[in-house]
Amino acid sequence: MNNGYLKVEHAQALTGQVELVGAKNAVLVIIASLVLTAGKSVLHNVPVSADVLEMIELLRHLGAVIFFDTEKHMLTVDTSLVRSWTVSSTIMQKTRASILIMGALLARFGKAHVGLPGGDAIGKRPIDYHVKNFAKMGVSIRSEADCLYAEVDMLSAARIILEYPSVGATENILMAATRAHGVTKIINAACEPEVLDLIAVLQKMGARIVVETPATIIVEGVDFLHPVEHHIMFDRLEAGSLLMAVAATGGEIYLSQASADLLDVVLLKLEEMGHSITVGSDGKGIHLKATSTPQAVSFKTGPFPGFPTDLQAPMMALQCLATGTSIIEETVFENRFHHAYELQKMGASIKIEYNKAIVTGVEYLYGTQVSASDIRASTALVIAGMIAHGTTTVLGVHHWKRGYEALEKKLQHLGAVISLHEADVLHGPLPGIQKEQATP
Ligand code: UD1
Repeated sequence: MNNGYLKVEHAQALTGQVELVGAKNAVLVIIASLVLTAGKSVLHNVPVSADVLEMIELLRHLGAVIFFDTEKHMLTVDTSLVRSWTVSSTIMQKTRASILIMGALLARFGKAHVGLPGGDAIGKRPIDYHVKNFAKMGVSIRSEADCLYAEVDMLSAARIILEYPSVGATENILMAATRAHGVTKIINAACEPEVLDLIAVLQKMGARIVVETPATIIVEGVDFLHPVEHHIMFDRLEAGSLLMAVAATGGEIYLSQASADLLDVVLLKLEEMGHSITVGSDGKGIHLKATSTPQAVSFKTGPFPGFPTDLQAPMMALQCLATGTSIIEETVFENRFHHAYELQKMGASIKIEYNKAIVTGVEYLYGTQVSASDIRASTALVIAGMIAHGTTTVLGVHHWKRGYEALEKKLQHLGAVISLHEADVLHGPLPGIQKEQATP
């Protein structure tokens, strides 16, 4: 798919303050969860990004009446007229998060006939944890062509052990369990902040949920859930991306809405690089002042509170010009290094060994044409473009738009020279394309 490109010039030190939007990974599942209720719910701080618009379309398709005030970031969803439990493959294929409608449909109707989900090209991303645990809750699931036909008379509570704390599987089981008969226990559950934001919404609906250490979610099924009003949590991945962009360019930024406890390991690693970070006394508000002599750091991705896989790519971009060698280990997804090959095209020294990327800092990167394979790869390539000499053209811009609400405008506000070019058909050579061999 070619929906245009981002043109990125070498940037001066980015400086300033920006507002953060609501978390994409929270809002997608929270919109899906509204199908658990029949009535009008209101969500605030909803980002206007392509994946969010796709989830809105999915609910409309089911019969929800939706009004999105994009200026105010306020989404009103009336699910009173939702009567369908069928979502076509075409709609399901638009995002990975579409699979999250299954738990809500099963809880409300006892049926979910859905296509298989789409999503980023970051590994196999199977849905076996979702399917086998729905089955444990009494759901019979038949798979035909690219569709799943799931049906249950009455969801029964179960003791569910996740072999890996999958975010999506935890969320789907959680939603189904809110209406199951009895008490469901999800052991080794994902406890990402976005899962906790979903739990906050479900509790507002009237669900009975308790989170216990270590990583166990206990849900007592109830007969009825009611509509809610909720303010979506800030996007820690947008916050992390902005901190990294500013750090890469040697600048300074203050994010007043960001809570440090949701970014602890990321802040630790940025500090280890030499960047100076201060946090407000209540843990809110992050100020970063970049060092001009960044040191390479090694890190390993993992479930929260580990280093988020979604910030692995942008953090790799920072390592490209740091002094020393960084070993980056990806443990969440088995195939999430596409951006490394694109960074190599810009002059980065990166060696891939199975799930490890070994990055040795070089003196400079140069602008060229690169292609983003997923949302966070696009962030990495934009950051690399800002520290490269010359012009960088980033293709695969639909990924950027899926994950962010006009992040390029926030970067512009901080001083970046970046522009988004929408085009279905590209005419002539792209900027940066002839510069592949150029030296600064
Ligand atoms: C969510 C996030 C995504 C983030 C990821 C990990 C949303 C919309 N997306 O994706 O941004 O990168 O969490 O933090 O919230 N797995 C299985 N079987 C399953 C389910 C998952 O093997 O049934 C594997 C996946 O292939 C992957 C790992 O578990 O290797 C983690 O995936 P999961 O946590 O489920 O990610 P998502 O919910 O898809």
